Amino acid sequence: MPYQTVKGTYDLLPEKMKRFNELETLFRSFLEIYGYSEIKTPVFEYTGVFKKENDTSDMVTKEMYTFSVNEKDSLTLRPEGTPGVIRLIIENKLYGSMELPIKMAYIEEMFRHERPQKGRQRQFTQMGIECIGDKDPLIDAEVIALGYFYIKTIGLEGVKVLINSLGDTESRLNYKKELIDYFTPYKDQLCTDCQSRLLKNPLRILDCKIDHENPVVQNAPKMKLNEVSEEYFNQVKHYLDILGIPYEIDDKLVRGLDYYTDTVFEVVSTNEESGSQATIFGGGRYDDLVKEMGGPQLSGIGFAIGLERLLILAEAEGIFLESEPYLDAYVINLYENNDQAMKVAAMLREEGFITEMDYYHRSLKAQFKSSDRKKARFVIIIGEDEVKNETVTLKDTLTKAQEEVPVKELCERMDQLLEDYYE
Ligand code: HAM
Repeated sequence: MPYQTVKGTYDLLPEKMKRFNELETLFRSFLEIYGYSEIKTPVFEYTGVFKKENDTSDMVTKEMYTFSVNEKDSLTLRPEGTPGVIRLIIENKLYGSMELPIKMAYIEEMFRHERPQKGRQRQFTQMGIECIGDKDPLIDAEVIALGYFYIKTIGLEGVKVLINSLGDTESRLNYKKELIDYFTPYKDQLCTDCQSRLLKNPLRILDCKIDHENPVVQNAPKMKLNEVSEEYFNQVKHYLDILGIPYEIDDKLVRGLDYYTDTVFEVVSTNEESGSQATIFGGGRYDDLVKEMGGPQLSGIGFAIGLERLLILAEAEGIFLESEPYLDAYVINLYENNDQAMKVAAMLREEGFITEMDYYHRSLKAQFKSSDRKKARFVIIIGEDEVKNETVTLKDTLTKAQEEVPVKELCERMDQLLEDYYE
């Protein structure tokens, strides 16, 4: 059997890789505009970075790639970006040296042992931001805005912003108690996952994929925010209104990770192509995570976009950010050696022209075929006469005009022809 990619992983062939890069480049320009600095954390960390005591999320309890090499340290492949960023901030004491809030971003591979399907891999890429050090509704709205306007700039249709508030620690504790009291008599009617979530994290029962149509879940009491949390959430909504970001309030949105407090949000696609994996990105605020990980009491908020899901949707909607690949110049070499062709190609590249040359000394026809296939704008032909005269034959493939040009004047002449053409 020939080797194949491992289930849930994939290759990126040149065309897809290019689209990936385009989406990343646009994301990076948003990071710059909004003042986020990109960082990279290691692909694996000590397991404790991701796994907290009493964690109930599927990601931590079932999906992490955890291993040990020397039977001493338990290590885990990064399943999400947030904890690594916080570890980095604490380890480097950035809260002492940088102005708050600290605005960090990452584009990194993540690993989760999930059941693979369209839009859900075991290795995937997240583009994420974390804004750590201050708690203000203005920041929540700004974080959502960065992600939302990025998606809108790509041009995706049918994008919906869902928001909810899980309340501050006090509201959450009260709500947790209320849910435990409510669900306990119905425990037998819940799925096995929810039965084990009941005491540890009853909020997760609300967005359980198995139980979501169960009347017991549908009739569960709603979150009652305390006054502070309510006012906070109202302010977030107010700023979203000011920014012109449409949103829906989804009171069952609790998100799959345990650390969220107050604002949580997801941006989902209504495009059928996204199938059951409609969440393009998700995120929320976390008041206690930095402290829990050994840092000071600093609140943070962030989100992560799944790059593969974004690509599926962009392709389904026929969106490509850049034009098809093409060449500025293809150097056809008919001379007995490669010296002059190499020199000319090097000169063109130095001047920024995207250039390729023939490596095989093929017939003129075969070389022209290659230049056609690669969509070269100019063809540069070098034969015996041209080498003798220190010239090249320059052919413009759009106007079909052909002329002999001294090598020294080639770049200038190409610039001139382009300028005349686009005038
Ligand atoms: P998450 O909801 O687990 O949040 O993941 C964020 C996004 O990553 C999802 O909306 C989805 O687009 C993508 N994603 C997740 N799992 C997969 C998968 N198996 N295959 C393909 N794409 C996937 C987090 O990871 C949080 N760290 C987000 C955050 C940042 N919250 C605060 N700051």
